[in-house]
Amino acid sequence: MKIAVLGTGYVGLVTAAGLSEFGHSVVGADKVAAKIEAIRRGRIPIYEPGLDELLESNLRKGTLSFSTDLAATVQAADVIFVCVGTPQGDDGSADMSQIEEVSRLIAENLNGYKVVVEKSTVPVKTSVRIKRTISLYNKTGAEFDVASNPEFLREGAAVPDFLEPDRIIIGVETDRARDLMFRIYDRFKDRILVTNIDTAELIKHASNSFLSMKISYINLMANLCERTEADVELVAKGMGLDPRIGPRFLKAGIGFGGSCFPKDIRALIRIGDDLGVDMSLLKETERVNQGRARIFIDKLKSALWILKDKKVGVLGLAFKPETDDVRAAPSIRIIQALLDEGACVRLHDPKAGDNMREFFPEDGVRTVYCSSPYQAAEGANALLCCTEWKEYAELDLARIRDLMVNPILVDGRNMFDPAAVSAQGLEYFSIGRR
Ligand code: UGA
Repeated sequence: MKIAVLGTGYVGLVTAAGLSEFGHSVVGADKVAAKIEAIRRGRIPIYEPGLDELLESNLRKGTLSFSTDLAATVQAADVIFVCVGTPQGDDGSADMSQIEEVSRLIAENLNGYKVVVEKSTVPVKTSVRIKRTISLYNKTGAEFDVASNPEFLREGAAVPDFLEPDRIIIGVETDRARDLMFRIYDRFKDRILVTNIDTAELIKHASNSFLSMKISYINLMANLCERTEADVELVAKGMGLDPRIGPRFLKAGIGFGGSCFPKDIRALIRIGDDLGVDMSLLKETERVNQGRARIFIDKLKSALWILKDKKVGVLGLAFKPETDDVRAAPSIRIIQALLDEGACVRLHDPKAGDNMREFFPEDGVRTVYCSSPYQAAEGANALLCCTEWKEYAELDLARIRDLMVNPILVDGRNMFDPAAVSAQGLEYFSIGRR
């Protein structure tokens, strides 16, 4: 089977490499020549554990290649995976211009029956638009089907998520498209759920928004814990023991970020609003999340009172560990609030420093990037933890204490055991527990 993957961003790269690993012949295509050039030379623009190796081994086997010639890639393919971006538009809805552009391109190169698969996260009913656009520009009259096959991979675990998925959702409206999609995923026959296209599209947004809701819920419980003697870690554990609830995505902290949850929840709210459905449950989920940075900064202020001219070390800039991605990272809101209050920030992240420089350029005075967590702690009045990188859990806290002006640790991810931190002579503030 010949597969085209259009778009070589995060999802596109993993999809192309993963499908070729399954034994298909895959061409990844992107109109940005510099991106394709870099990928061909083995330089991928993102940090994702295992992806380099997967790309390299499939490029070497010859089952995977990359091209800037989108027209030829479409013409040669039986199945086309659409993996272009659907960034957030000004009004919260997804900007669908790249999907429309690719639909036109497919139409103009439709030289026989093909299945066009939506892989990018798209609003429910997008397939109707894609079908209409392809029909509008289809000169040959060749047949085609649209299918939805949403992607559930997590950054930092994208390769294992793709190669060993929990479920494969396939939204189709013809047997012909269903049969082709089954051939692509034949090794996962036992975990394929076939639905209509609207359902498949909605499953993706519904899943991400539900997980966001779980996080905001536990963060709300953390607020209650902070005003009582309850401990949110144990509240989460106790809740999670109920198999109907489950323990995952109940980690309280400074809120959810990344390129998916914040954008997807807004997009789903917008979809509901447009369809006349009351979306207040999700609006509250988002509002709770937005309030996390302020609550975190208030903890710091309760320790230091005034932040003006204070030196604050910030450990962890990425929106979560094992990625260099800082898109919608909670740390951005926190750093902005610190700078607005006149503090000087000393920033560290094992992978995401360069990406964060685009948001907060180094000026050597107010904003300093540090090469180690210890350097970030040097001369600091407080140290904040914003991302739970493993290396932070292994810090020598006594050394940190000695480096700081005020040994105050404010932990936004509950990485440390409060008693262990206090035993090292640091004052410790965390989320939802004393
Ligand atoms: C998320 C979904 O988990 C994937 O299934 C989905 O495919 C992906 O979005 C997408 O739509 O492409 P991802 O954004 O990589 O994946 O990250 P998650 O691991 O889900 O974490 C999202 C945010 O929630 C992070 O900022 C993380 O720190 C936060 N989080 C997560 C919590 O605050 N508490 C938790 O218990 C779990």
